[in-house]
Formats: sequence, structure tokens, C-alpha cells
Amino acid sequence: MPLLSSIAVIGGGYVGLTTAACFAHLGHDVVCGDNDAEKVRSLSKGEVPVLEEGLPDLVAQGLASRRLRFVLGAAAAASTAEFVFLCVPTPQGANGAADLSIVEDVAREIAPVLHAGSVVVNKSTVPIGSTQLVERLLTEAGAMPGTIGVASNPEFLREGSAVRDFLEPHRVVIGCQETEVAVRVSELYRDLRAPILVTDAASAEMIKYASNAFLATKISFINAIANLCESVHADVREVALGMGYDPRIGFEFLHAGPGYGGSCFPKDVQALLYTADSVDYDFELLRSVHDVNQRQHDRIVAKIAAAAGDTLEGATIAVWGLTFKANTDDLRDSPALAIARRLLEGGARVRAYDPAAGERAAQIVAGLDVVADPYDACVDADVLTVLTEWDELRWLDFERVGGQMRTRHIVDARNLLDPAAMRQKSFVYDGVGR
Ligand SMILES: NC(=O)c1ccc[n+]([C@@H]2O[C@H](COP(=O)([O-])OP(=O)(O)OC[C@H]3O[C@@H](n4cnc5c(N)ncnc54)[C@H](O)[C@@H]3O)[C@@H](O)[C@H]2O)c1
Repeated sequence: MPLLSSIAVIGGGYVGLTTAACFAHLGHDVVCGDNDAEKVRSLSKGEVPVLEEGLPDLVAQGLASRRLRFVLGAAAAASTAEFVFLCVPTPQGANGAADLSIVEDVAREIAPVLHAGSVVVNKSTVPIGSTQLVERLLTEAGAMPGTIGVASNPEFLREGSAVRDFLEPHRVVIGCQETEVAVRVSELYRDLRAPILVTDAASAEMIKYASNAFLATKISFINAIANLCESVHADVREVALGMGYDPRIGFEFLHAGPGYGGSCFPKDVQALLYTADSVDYDFELLRSVHDVNQRQHDRIVAKIAAAAGDTLEGATIAVWGLTFKANTDDLRDSPALAIARRLLEGGARVRAYDPAAGERAAQIVAGLDVVADPYDACVDADVLTVLTEWDELRWLDFERVGGQMRTRHIVDARNLLDPAAMRQKSFVYDGVGR
């Protein structure tokens, strides 16, 4: 018989590790299974490989209390669990659709070791219909038909505040046809103060995609407004503030910049577009969201080229920030990396600084010169560009910055700096939409 109230989490990445550590913190017995042996070894020693506030402490507490363990492989984790949470990657496939192969592999791997009464809960972001697919794969791979529950429980955490988002969620969504299974899953969250929404599986899966697509829409919308602001001499920061006070709109995700990125929005927008295509729905609005986002990179590169004297060839560009947003070390689909690549392709020398992920960025982008100090990045630079909104960059000594540069040009793709203060220090300043 399984150990009741024990949880297996498959995948020890941003979502899986947060889920595992938070469930252990809530008092559950948790075993986290990953197929990366090195990761399992370091996590077992309490070494957390990602930058995530509060997570190292929770992992340390979990290990010390023995409520949290790490093992190699999905089957090893699932064999004693009542609940098995799938938190594995669902990357973008070649045709834009979500690639479900890892979810499918894991379902086949765990099927033979599941016990009657176990519940498999999908936390990975998966296309509509995946809960049913997992159920079918489990049965085909040897799970006893009718004895295993399957539910969708999409995750809404944000990197950088993952622990807080998990423990103080705005809502918990559980998609499941069987009421008894939904109630059991909801009980895992009983100590959190959050509305719990039980829906059918398809709706739960759609809630996740619709939420990310909507947030991406907000970002593209404010970027489009920013581009208009530049032509009509309005300041998008003032505009966003004035809009945000309206509770129907809100302040969040109204920051003009280089476009959305990261491991979720780009792939989830593409996956939803693929879903729309597959049912012959022309999701014109979402296609525009994607197009605006792509063009935003072009606009930032054009601003940098203009500041460098209308050509990137031979220019030296200082880049501050490489992660897809501040307070994370995640470089996946980072607009900053995409823009740095474009600068290099245009013939510029790019010297970059990032507080969290510089060394890894240097391994990913050929030709990128990464330094360990923001001032060093500016030596002999023709243009300094801010590509990630790290707060520490705001408070640097800009006299010293300017003193290092060949010419005092700033392209602030995150609207992080104060234009008036920069102009007072003799910088030629260009932001986004101001
Ligand atoms: N990162 C986010 O902010 C976020 C937020 C909400 C939802 N999601 C979704 O959650 C899912 C996971 O995302 P993530 O960012 O945590 O990914 P991640 O890449 O950080 O972590 C995935 C982990 O799964 C492990 N893994 C891969 N194949 C495995 C296998 N066969 N068996 C066991 N472990 C395996 C990897 O080694 C890795 O540790 C994705 O579907 C993503 O879209 C992510």
C-alpha cells in the first residue's frame, strides 16, 4: 500500500523544486525525482541550482526534517506516493505546438509502479486534452484501469517570487472529472488562503494558456502604445500609471520594454496559436501579440544602432542585464540575449554584465564578452544599453560610467533609469516610449 499523504514531484526545476519544497514546508512527505543525476546529488546536499528567493531555506528545512528527499528518476519517486505531480518541461516543438514527449515518457515510466488510489497531477503547462492523454498512456503502460486518478493543476508561479507565489497563490485551479479525486488534490492545499477552483480538465488547461496569453497581450499592448508615444511625444510611463489606477486595468504587466521572453510566454503563445490553428480558428489577436513582440527587438536594435552613429559595424556596446527579467538567473528565451546576438551579427563588439547569469550567457552566445563588473562593461563603449531591469543598476555611479565610455549614449530598453538625471550628467538618453 502507498504511504498516504506522500507526494512525488517529478522534475526538480523551477516549478518542481518549488512545488516539492513548499509541499514539504506544508507538512507533506515529499520525494522529488529528477533524471539529472548531478542535480539530484547537489539537491540532496541542499545546493539549489537556481536563483529563487527563499527556496534554499525551504530546501534546507525540508532535508533537515526529512520531509523532503531527492531521488534519481521518476519511477523511484512515484513508487511510494499517493500523489504524483508532473513538473517536467513542455518545450516548444518544431511546429509551434507544445512538445509533450517528456510528459509522455514520464507517464509510461511511472505507470507500472503506481498503486491503486494514486493520483497523477499534471502541473506542467500542457495543451488542452493532455490530462486525458496522460490517463490513456498510464493505462496502456500498465496502470490498472480505473484505479488511478488523473488531474490537471496548472502552476501560475513567477520566477523570482516562486516560493511566495506558491504559498500565497491568487487561486488554485484543479481540473478533474471525478469529484473525489478533485477533493483529495484540493486538500493538499488546505493550509493556503486561496480560492480553489475545480473545473473540468480542459478548462483548467485552458485557464493556464489563456492567463499567459493575456499577460503577453498586456505587454505587447503597452509596447505598441509606447511606440505610438514616441511619435506623439507622450511618456508611456505616465500613460501606464494613469491606466493602472483603473482597477479594471491594473498596474501589472504594463511596463514597456524589449518584449516578453522567458521559458513560458513565448512558447505558450505559440502553443495556443497552434491549438487555434488545429481547430481552424484564426486567432488574429494573438498572432499580432507575437508579431509586436518580435518587432520590439528590431526597435531596440535600431535605437542602439542609431545611438552608435547609425551603424553597429565596429561599435562597442555595453550591455547591462542578460536574464529575461530581473531577480532570476533564467536565460531561456531572454530578449536581452536575442538583442545581444543581433548586435554581434551587426558587427558590434558587445561587452556585457549581468548580476546572476553572465558566465552562462557567455557559453550560450558566441562572441559575447562577459565581465564581472558593470563599470568594466562600459570601457570605451559607444553606447550603454540596459536590457534587464536589475534594481542594482539604477544606483551606480553614472559619472564613473560616463567616464569609462567613449561617448555618453544610453539606450534604456527597460525604462529603468531617470532620463532627467541622465541628461543632467550629459548622457544622450533614449528609453522606450518616452
Ligand atoms: N518556469 C516557470 O516560471 C513556470 C511557471 C509555470 C509553469 N511552468 C511549466 O512547468 C513545467 C516545468 O517548467 P520548469 O521551468 O520548472 O522547467 P525546468 O527546465 O526548470 O525543470 C524541469 C526539470 O525536469 C527534469 N526532467 C526532465 N526530464 C525528466 C524526466 N524524464 N524525468 C524526471 N525529470 C526530468 C529536468 O532535469 C529539470 O530539472 C513546464 O511545462 C513549464 O511550462 C513553468
